[in-house]
Amino acid sequence: MGRKDLLGLKELDASELINILDVAREMKKILAQGVKRVPHLQNKSMVTLFYENSTRTRMSFELAGKFLSASVSNVVVRNSSVQKGESLIDTGKTLDALMTDVIVIRHNCSGAPHLLAKNVKASVLNAGDGMNEHPTQALLDMFTMREKLGEIKGLKVAIVGDIKHSRVARSNIIGLSKLGADVYISAPGTLIPYDIEKMGAKVCPLDKAVEGANVVMGLRMQLERQQSGLIPSRKEYGRFYGLTDERMTKAAKNALVMHPGPLNRGVELTSEVADCGQSVINEQVTNGVAVRMAVLFLLTRGGRKI
Ligand code: CP
Repeated sequence: MGRKDLLGLKELDASELINILDVAREMKKILAQGVKRVPHLQNKSMVTLFYENSTRTRMSFELAGKFLSASVSNVVVRNSSVQKGESLIDTGKTLDALMTDVIVIRHNCSGAPHLLAKNVKASVLNAGDGMNEHPTQALLDMFTMREKLGEIKGLKVAIVGDIKHSRVARSNIIGLSKLGADVYISAPGTLIPYDIEKMGAKVCPLDKAVEGANVVMGLRMQLERQQSGLIPSRKEYGRFYGLTDERMTKAAKNALVMHPGPLNRGVELTSEVADCGQSVINEQVTNGVAVRMAVLFLLTRGGRKI
């Protein structure tokens, strides 16, 4: 990869994205053989530093590191010296002093991984920063699309939901546009950032976004933002923007149903859609391990091709 850090898809070009997806395919082949320990990160140490909750991302980074033979530790922020007032930079310098090779960070502030990366020797991997980016989520989404549908170029991808607060949407719009997909977004006006079309997405009504789409991705309705009055109620959101069997009939035949999780069933999508044959929501989670193995491997080997 030739980079110290992975902070966002903004700074990667199409060939770097393809390289990561190709390496992830090799990692998935290894895992498919039942092999759960390869030596690629032997003698490397990785720490997860999550200031926000996570199930999928933290677990899959942890498994990816372990499967690659890294020594893996987790900082439990609520029990750490962060609670005594230690700054992010000082926490980072402490992890450097403990000879950490890779820090995987999730933070509620956009730009926190960038600040950390400037101040530590370790490679920094962004596992989601505020409303900015979630690069490995978009990479695993693109991996899943490529595995199921072939080339990403020319795909119509509809992203539906809380775009405004979604780092997943941002990273997907950036990455998918670089790989030549057409990205359509649909949401209540209060949940669409004013400059989103500059990133390459087209804003349109839900039926138009879903019509002929090869991929329909629901986004989590961020319940913690509900009090701000951006939508009248979850029920009303579900009525107008929830993905239902009826709405999905407008998508292309065999269109993929995707969602980064965690799901709010009956809000972003019905249980029938979440669990239908076209849903790849659980495969997205599985693919996250291979994608994170690829990223960890590429970052720590200093840019050489696999
Ligand atoms: N998709 C995602 O980031 O899930 P978690 O919050 O469980 O990590």
